[in-house]
Amino acid sequence: MTNPAMAIQSSPIANPEAVLEACIAKRALRRQLRVDLPRTRYAVRRIFSTLKDSPAEHALVVGVGHGHDAVMALLDDQVRLLDGVDPYISDDGNDDDDFNELLSLIEATGLQRRMFVHRTTIDEHLSATTQHYDLIVINDVLHHLFLTRSRLESSQLFERAVHLAAALRKVASDDCTLTICDVERHGMRQLLYRMGLMRSWVDFSTKQHWGSWVRAFKESGWQLHSKRNYVPFALRTLEPLLSTPLGSFTACERYIVRMRPAR
Ligand SMILES: C[S@@+](CC[C@H](N)C(=O)[O-])C[C@H]1O[C@@H](n2cnc3c(N)ncnc32)[C@H](O)[C@@H]1O
Repeated sequence: MTNPAMAIQSSPIANPEAVLEACIAKRALRRQLRVDLPRTRYAVRRIFSTLKDSPAEHALVVGVGHGHDAVMALLDDQVRLLDGVDPYISDDGNDDDDFNELLSLIEATGLQRRMFVHRTTIDEHLSATTQHYDLIVINDVLHHLFLTRSRLESSQLFERAVHLAAALRKVASDDCTLTICDVERHGMRQLLYRMGLMRSWVDFSTKQHWGSWVRAFKESGWQLHSKRNYVPFALRTLEPLLSTPLGSFTACERYIVRMRPAR
């Protein structure tokens, strides 16, 4: 069996999915991550789906980072056009290399006319763009934008979150789906971590309860459609069981919140 990470260097591109697979494998090796094509597709199906029964026409991905999920959403025709916005802040997980690799990946997969990366902050992008989006994805980003150990509502950042939600509402079409995927503040692991009984590379104290984001977005013309647990890929066969509150308290550290413009 060939190593997918080698495919990108050693052979001309056979198909876009193989190129993406090679990029994912390369990053996984470099960062010692457990991620591959099936795991990425699993995440994309959950995070890039719309509330209507059709693919997104034009998606905005806030903090697009390495962009492997965005590329997959385009290759799988879950999205037709996509704007990714990211200033590429290395302390937040993605740097110059990630930016340059994403540009190469877009070219190598032939997506130059469907995916555009804007190297800027989301605030700057929203104040400059004239686009309207029917899908907005904010995956693992909000706790970087609003970094506090306090509850969001008790911090001065709450107003800024309301302001961002209002700016996103202005670029959202009336049938827009806005998806927030992030790490939960509360739960068993989080509790053990706070008590010093468990170690984790995730600092749960800077994460927010899903309801905090919903509160901020509701103040700016959004309404909650649904919240579900993000069941880890390795536990996917247990999804019916882990989709319950039991799941959010135990195995599911992440949540997916879907909102739409208030009617
Ligand atoms: C943890 S990474 C998540 C990347 C990607 N969404 C993913 O799921 O892998 C957080 C990303 O947010 C980006 N970011 C930080 N501040 C931002 C801002 N003001 N506007 C847009 N993106 C920002 C960082 O550069 C980084 O790429």
